[in-house]
Amino acid sequence: MPKLIVTTREGETSEIDVADGLTVMEAIRDNGFDELLALCGGCCSCATCHVHVDAAYSDKLPEMTEDEDDLLESTDHRQPTSRLSCQIPFTPELDGLKVTIAPED
Ligand code: FES
Repeated sequence: MPKLIVTTREGETSEIDVADGLTVMEAIRDNGFDELLALCGGCCSCATCHVHVDAAYSDKLPEMTEDEDDLLESTDHRQPTSRLSCQIPFTPELDGLKVTIAPED
């Protein structure tokens, strides 16, 4: 199974297996990382699923929509590698992707 490497706000890193068809947000949430609130459930309307993504994978990620871009603009911790994890379907080619949960706004 493809793996996702998640670093928490406290700097703890764990590797999780991701089942087919999940988004990065669902994979993180389903593995018990409570600090990723994902309040809107993946509808791209809350920005509480904000993560910083390993830059080495930037060209493998789906393009950002205007809605995602606008929401990220509203956060205090936006970086060039910022994404909303609910907007990233975890495909096998993302195996080994590293994400860090962004600080809370
Ligand atoms: S879960 Fe709300 S924007 Fe991603």
